[in-house]
Amino acid sequence: MGKDVIIACDFDSAEKTLAFLDLFKDKKPFVKIGMELFYAEGPDMVRRIKERGHKIFLDLKLHDIPNTVKKAMAVLSRLDVDMCNVHASGASAMMKAAVEGLTRADGTRPLLIAVTQLTSTDQTALESELLIKEPIKDVVMKYAKNAKDSGLDGVVCSPLEAAAVHTACGAEFLTVTPGVRFADGDKGDQKRVMTPEQARLAGSDYIVVGRPITAADDPVAAYNRCLKEFVS
Ligand code: C5P
Repeated sequence: MGKDVIIACDFDSAEKTLAFLDLFKDKKPFVKIGMELFYAEGPDMVRRIKERGHKIFLDLKLHDIPNTVKKAMAVLSRLDVDMCNVHASGASAMMKAAVEGLTRADGTRPLLIAVTQLTSTDQTALESELLIKEPIKDVVMKYAKNAKDSGLDGVVCSPLEAAAVHTACGAEFLTVTPGVRFADGDKGDQKRVMTPEQARLAGSDYIVVGRPITAADDPVAAYNRCLKEFVS
Protein backbone atom coordinates (compact mmCIF):
# COMPACT_ATOMS: atom_id res chain seq x y z
CA MET A 1 0.00 0.00 0.00
CA GLY A 2 1.69 3.21 -1.16
CA LYS A 3 1.52 6.38 0.86
CA ASP A 4 -0.48 9.11 -0.87
CA VAL A 5 -1.88 12.61 -0.51
CA ILE A 6 -5.68 12.84 -0.76
CA ILE A 7 -7.09 16.27 -1.66
CA ALA A 8 -10.33 17.13 0.18
CA CYS A 9 -12.47 18.62 -2.60
CA ASP A 10 -14.77 20.55 -0.28
CA PHE A 11 -16.58 22.46 -3.02
CA ASP A 12 -20.32 23.02 -3.38
CA SER A 13 -20.66 22.53 -7.13
CA ALA A 14 -19.44 20.43 -10.04
CA GLU A 15 -18.23 23.55 -11.84
CA LYS A 16 -15.90 24.60 -9.02
CA THR A 17 -14.65 21.04 -8.52
CA LEU A 18 -13.90 20.37 -12.18
CA ALA A 19 -12.27 23.80 -12.64
CA PHE A 20 -10.02 22.92 -9.70
CA LEU A 21 -9.17 19.46 -11.07
CA ASP A 22 -8.46 20.98 -14.51
CA LEU A 23 -5.40 22.61 -12.95
CA PHE A 24 -3.74 19.21 -12.61
CA LYS A 25 -2.25 18.12 -15.91
CA ASP A 26 0.45 15.55 -15.12
CA LYS A 27 -0.50 13.52 -12.07
CA LYS A 28 -4.14 12.86 -11.21
CA PRO A 29 -4.47 13.35 -7.45
CA PHE A 30 -6.41 11.03 -5.14
CA VAL A 31 -9.57 13.02 -4.37
CA LYS A 32 -11.89 13.04 -1.34
CA ILE A 33 -15.56 13.73 -2.04
CA GLY A 34 -17.43 14.62 1.13
CA MET A 35 -21.05 15.18 2.02
CA GLU A 36 -21.19 18.75 0.71
CA LEU A 37 -20.20 17.90 -2.85
CA PHE A 38 -22.01 14.55 -2.92
CA TYR A 39 -25.28 16.01 -1.66
CA ALA A 40 -24.95 18.93 -4.07
CA GLU A 41 -24.17 16.95 -7.21
CA GLY A 42 -25.00 13.30 -6.50
CA PRO A 43 -23.39 10.09 -7.71
CA ASP A 44 -22.81 11.53 -11.16
CA MET A 45 -20.06 13.68 -9.67
CA VAL A 46 -18.27 10.52 -8.55
CA ARG A 47 -18.55 9.02 -12.04
CA ARG A 48 -17.26 12.18 -13.71
CA ILE A 49 -14.21 12.43 -11.46
CA LYS A 50 -13.54 8.70 -11.84
CA GLU A 51 -13.72 9.02 -15.64
CA ARG A 52 -10.99 11.65 -15.45
CA GLY A 53 -8.69 9.06 -13.92
CA HIS A 54 -8.70 10.04 -10.23
CA LYS A 55 -8.88 7.64 -7.31
CA ILE A 56 -11.77 8.56 -5.02
CA PHE A 57 -12.30 8.46 -1.26
CA LEU A 58 -16.05 8.86 -0.78
CA ASP A 59 -16.32 10.33 2.71
CA LEU A 60 -19.99 9.82 3.60
CA LYS A 61 -19.48 8.33 7.10
CA LEU A 62 -22.36 5.87 7.05
CA HIS A 63 -24.06 5.09 10.38
CA ASP A 64 -27.36 3.15 10.39
CA ILE A 65 -28.71 -0.33 11.06
CA PRO A 66 -26.58 -3.10 9.51
CA ASN A 67 -29.03 -4.00 6.73
CA THR A 68 -29.35 -0.40 5.55
CA VAL A 69 -25.59 0.14 5.61
CA LYS A 70 -24.98 -3.13 3.75
CA LYS A 71 -27.35 -2.12 0.93
CA ALA A 72 -26.02 1.43 0.72
CA MET A 73 -22.46 0.11 0.55
CA ALA A 74 -23.39 -2.21 -2.32
CA VAL A 75 -24.50 0.88 -4.26
CA LEU A 76 -21.30 2.79 -3.45
CA SER A 77 -19.21 -0.21 -4.45
CA ARG A 78 -20.87 -0.17 -7.88
CA LEU A 79 -19.77 3.46 -8.22
CA ASP A 80 -16.24 2.03 -8.23
CA VAL A 81 -14.85 4.30 -5.53
CA ASP A 82 -11.47 3.37 -4.03
CA MET A 83 -12.15 4.12 -0.38
CA CYS A 84 -15.23 4.81 1.74
CA ASN A 85 -16.09 4.97 5.42
CA VAL A 86 -18.47 4.34 8.32
CA HIS A 87 -18.72 5.48 11.93
CA ALA A 88 -17.16 2.89 14.23
CA SER A 89 -19.83 3.83 16.80
CA GLY A 90 -22.29 1.90 14.58
CA ALA A 91 -20.62 -1.13 16.22
CA SER A 92 -19.25 -4.40 14.86
CA ALA A 93 -22.46 -5.79 13.34
CA MET A 94 -22.81 -2.66 11.23
CA MET A 95 -19.13 -2.62 10.22
CA LYS A 96 -19.23 -6.29 9.19
CA ALA A 97 -22.40 -5.63 7.18
CA ALA A 98 -20.62 -2.73 5.47
CA VAL A 99 -17.77 -5.03 4.40
CA GLU A 100 -20.28 -7.57 3.05
CA GLY A 101 -22.19 -4.93 1.12
CA LEU A 102 -19.03 -3.49 -0.39
CA THR A 103 -17.63 -6.82 -1.55
CA ARG A 104 -18.30 -7.40 -5.24
CA ALA A 105 -19.11 -10.75 -6.86
CA ASP A 106 -15.44 -11.16 -7.85
CA GLY A 107 -14.31 -10.68 -4.23
CA THR A 108 -12.82 -7.20 -4.74
CA ARG A 109 -13.99 -4.16 -2.81
CA PRO A 110 -13.03 -0.54 -2.06
CA LEU A 111 -10.97 0.09 1.05
CA LEU A 112 -13.19 0.61 4.08
CA ILE A 113 -12.10 2.74 7.00
CA ALA A 114 -13.83 3.84 10.19
CA VAL A 115 -14.23 7.19 11.87
CA THR A 116 -13.45 6.56 15.54
CA GLN A 117 -14.49 9.69 17.46
CA LEU A 118 -15.05 12.90 15.55
CA THR A 119 -12.34 15.39 16.48
CA SER A 120 -15.16 17.84 17.29
CA THR A 121 -16.20 15.56 20.18
CA ASP A 122 -14.18 16.35 23.29
CA GLN A 123 -13.90 14.61 26.65
CA THR A 124 -16.66 16.81 28.16
CA ALA A 125 -19.17 15.93 25.42
CA LEU A 126 -18.16 12.27 25.66
CA GLU A 127 -18.86 12.17 29.39
CA SER A 128 -21.80 14.53 29.81
CA GLU A 129 -23.75 13.83 26.62
CA LEU A 130 -22.72 10.36 25.41
CA LEU A 131 -22.21 9.04 28.96
CA ILE A 132 -18.86 7.48 28.02
CA LYS A 133 -16.55 7.79 31.01
CA GLU A 134 -13.31 6.42 29.55
CA PRO A 135 -10.51 8.75 28.38
CA ILE A 136 -11.11 9.70 24.74
CA LYS A 137 -7.72 8.23 23.77
CA ASP A 138 -8.81 4.81 25.04
CA VAL A 139 -12.15 5.12 23.24
CA VAL A 140 -10.37 5.89 19.95
CA MET A 141 -8.07 2.86 20.35
CA LYS A 142 -10.95 0.53 21.30
CA TYR A 143 -12.99 1.69 18.29
CA ALA A 144 -9.95 1.18 16.05
CA LYS A 145 -9.58 -2.39 17.36
CA ASN A 146 -13.31 -3.02 16.82
CA ALA A 147 -12.90 -1.81 13.23
CA LYS A 148 -9.95 -4.13 12.68
CA ASP A 149 -11.76 -7.11 14.22
CA SER A 150 -14.75 -6.38 11.94
CA GLY A 151 -12.53 -6.71 8.87
CA LEU A 152 -12.03 -3.02 8.06
CA ASP A 153 -8.80 -1.73 6.54
CA GLY A 154 -8.10 1.25 8.79
CA VAL A 155 -9.30 4.39 10.51
CA VAL A 156 -9.48 8.12 10.04
CA CYS A 157 -7.48 9.66 12.85
CA SER A 158 -5.23 12.54 13.80
CA PRO A 159 -1.62 12.09 12.66
CA LEU A 160 -0.84 12.40 16.38
CA GLU A 161 -2.67 9.09 16.91
CA ALA A 162 -1.25 7.22 13.90
CA ALA A 163 1.64 5.58 15.75
CA ALA A 164 -0.58 4.36 18.60
CA VAL A 165 -3.14 2.96 16.14
CA HIS A 166 -0.38 1.06 14.32
CA THR A 167 0.92 -0.30 17.64
CA ALA A 168 -2.56 -1.46 18.65
CA CYS A 169 -3.80 -2.71 15.28
CA GLY A 170 -0.68 -3.54 13.28
CA ALA A 171 1.47 -1.83 10.68
CA GLU A 172 -0.83 -2.88 7.83
CA PHE A 173 -3.90 -1.22 9.38
CA LEU A 174 -4.29 2.08 7.53
CA THR A 175 -4.23 5.49 9.16
CA VAL A 176 -5.86 8.21 7.07
CA THR A 177 -5.10 11.53 8.67
CA PRO A 178 -6.56 15.03 8.18
CA GLY A 179 -5.29 17.99 10.20
CA VAL A 180 -2.26 18.65 8.00
CA ARG A 181 -0.73 22.09 7.55
CA PHE A 182 2.52 23.42 6.09
CA ALA A 183 4.99 24.70 8.68
CA ASP A 184 4.63 28.24 7.27
CA GLY A 185 0.86 27.99 6.60
CA ASP A 186 -2.41 29.02 8.22
CA LYS A 187 -3.89 26.55 10.73
CA GLY A 188 -7.45 27.77 10.10
CA ASP A 189 -9.92 25.92 12.35
CA GLN A 190 -7.68 22.86 12.74
CA LYS A 191 -6.24 22.78 16.24
CA ARG A 192 -3.90 19.80 16.45
CA VAL A 193 -1.92 19.81 13.23
CA MET A 194 1.18 18.24 11.74
CA THR A 195 3.14 19.09 8.61
CA PRO A 196 3.14 16.50 5.78
CA GLU A 197 6.69 15.55 6.75
CA GLN A 198 5.77 15.12 10.43
CA ALA A 199 2.77 13.01 9.38
CA ARG A 200 5.09 10.76 7.36
CA LEU A 201 7.44 10.39 10.31
CA ALA A 202 4.45 9.64 12.57
CA GLY A 203 3.49 6.76 10.28
CA SER A 204 0.37 8.12 8.52
CA ASP A 205 -0.50 6.10 5.43
CA TYR A 206 -2.60 8.76 3.72
CA ILE A 207 -2.87 12.45 4.52
CA VAL A 208 -6.10 14.28 3.72
CA VAL A 209 -5.36 17.89 2.81
CA GLY A 210 -8.00 20.46 1.94
CA ARG A 211 -7.48 24.20 2.21
CA PRO A 212 -3.66 24.20 2.20
CA ILE A 213 -4.08 23.00 -1.41
CA THR A 214 -7.55 24.17 -2.51
CA ALA A 215 -7.07 27.73 -1.20
CA ALA A 216 -3.42 28.09 -2.25
CA ASP A 217 -2.41 30.66 -4.86
CA ASP A 218 -0.88 27.77 -6.79
CA PRO A 219 -2.75 24.56 -5.85
CA VAL A 220 -0.57 22.34 -8.06
CA ALA A 221 2.60 23.62 -6.40
CA ALA A 222 1.03 23.12 -2.95
CA TYR A 223 0.01 19.55 -3.89
CA ASN A 224 3.50 18.79 -5.18
CA ARG A 225 4.98 20.18 -1.99
CA CYS A 226 2.74 17.83 0.03
CA LEU A 227 3.79 14.88 -2.10
CA LYS A 228 7.46 15.76 -1.76
CA GLU A 229 7.27 16.11 2.04
CA PHE A 230 4.98 13.13 2.62
CA VAL A 231 5.84 10.52 0.03
CA SER A 232 9.53 10.97 -0.69
O1 C5P B 1 -9.18 22.06 4.72
P1 C5P B 1 -8.66 20.97 5.63
O2 C5P B 1 -7.27 20.51 5.28
O3 C5P B 1 -8.82 21.31 7.08
O4 C5P B 1 -9.62 19.75 5.30
C1 C5P B 1 -9.57 18.55 6.01
C2 C5P B 1 -10.62 17.60 5.52
O5 C5P B 1 -10.65 16.47 6.38
C3 C5P B 1 -12.04 18.17 5.53
O6 C5P B 1 -12.76 17.57 4.44
C4 C5P B 1 -12.59 17.71 6.86
O7 C5P B 1 -13.98 17.55 6.84
C5 C5P B 1 -11.91 16.36 7.01
N1 C5P B 1 -11.79 15.89 8.40
C6 C5P B 1 -11.11 16.60 9.37
N2 C5P B 1 -11.01 16.11 10.65
C7 C5P B 1 -11.60 14.96 10.96
C8 C5P B 1 -12.29 14.22 9.99
C9 C5P B 1 -12.36 14.73 8.70
O8 C5P B 1 -10.56 17.66 9.10
N3 C5P B 1 -11.46 14.49 12.18
